[in-house]
Amino acid sequence: MPRPQKHVFVCATQRPPGHPRGSCAQKGCAEVSDEFMFQYQQRQCFDKVMVTTCGCIGPCGQGPNVLVYPEGVLYSGVSKDDVAAIFDEHLLGDQPVERLRAPADMW
Ligand code: FES
Repeated sequence: MPRPQKHVFVCATQRPPGHPRGSCAQKGCAEVSDEFMFQYQQRQCFDKVMVTTCGCIGPCGQGPNVLVYPEGVLYSGVSKDDVAAIFDEHLLGDQPVERLRAPADMW
């Protein structure tokens, strides 16, 4: 297996209702991770990109959060409709999607 050029981590953390930190699950991360996997299959870019669900990244209240390495770019408040832009512009086009990036004071 070739080493991927980009590795996407989609937070999949779920906390109980009423938890003070909230969670990306409460904000719809399952739909986002499903869309990443769907578009990953469509693009067949297995030699370039890896998509993984992960635990808490930190800024839970601003989720769903998606982290891309090697750049360490954090996208916050990601929706299903944002996934194509992240794939085409950043993962395959090498240009982070500025409008979706977490604010500098958050990450
Ligand atoms: S629960 Fe997703 S960043 Fe904390």
